[in-house]
Amino acid sequence: MNFHILTLFPGMVMNGLNTSIIGRAVNAGLLSIEAVNIRDYAFNKHQSVDDYPYGGGAGMLMQAEPVYLSYEAVAEKIAARGAKRKPRVVYLSPQGDVFSQKMAEELAQEEDLILLCGHYEGIDERVLEEIVTDYVSIGDYVLTGGELPAMVMVDAISRLVPGVLHNDVSAEFESFQDNLLEYPQYSRPEEWHGKKVPPVLLSGHHANIEKWRREQSILRTYERRSDLFEKCELTDKEQKWLEEVLKSRESGQEEEN
Ligand code: ADE
Repeated sequence: MNFHILTLFPGMVMNGLNTSIIGRAVNAGLLSIEAVNIRDYAFNKHQSVDDYPYGGGAGMLMQAEPVYLSYEAVAEKIAARGAKRKPRVVYLSPQGDVFSQKMAEELAQEEDLILLCGHYEGIDERVLEEIVTDYVSIGDYVLTGGELPAMVMVDAISRLVPGVLHNDVSAEFESFQDNLLEYPQYSRPEEWHGKKVPPVLLSGHHANIEKWRREQSILRTYERRSDLFEKCELTDKEQKWLEEVLKSRESGQEEEN
């Protein structure tokens, strides 16, 4: 998969994505990440890319033309490689749809993805109308630019590309699969600060371990993410188990009080 990030801060993006798992996947040729400097497409001798907004107001806007030219350069390169259709162009903005695991899964199917990072007070609306296919936010807060959100998206999408995680199982069984959070995990030593690893995990009994993990996922999702819990499908047996746990907790608390 090929990511093309249109930005005024290519160093920030590339430095953030050249380490660890993503860096290794790039070196292995599973991914390519290029940061295109929008300033290289400025059409004036000062290489400025921003100007005052018509109608007044605070701050500066990124101008349409340099953004458009940087997009065109990338789109032409993709077309020259024989791509059958135009690449999707994601504009990172707090006004977009909120990024999710489901969206990451869908975008991981693309061969090429262009991510457009805004700065200052945003980008001239006319170029957005012309090139953007998807508006994406990474959450309901306002950042100074789209670079961090773009890096978040590249990370979340990349790890779904086959081969990137080495171990395909880990992408399958983690948080948000089946709308359940991941179960708690433990490593050596068996006892730390007086806390013991749950005995079932030391038992070597795989069916029991799987059952315990699923139950812990259910309990965790119920306690921490009621919004996800509403969407997850439990068997009658699991539903009963949860009710029992909650009931026994309640009576335990009453005894304590
Ligand atoms: N740019 C500024 N804030 C943002 C956010 N929350 N998500 C995506 N892009 C942004």
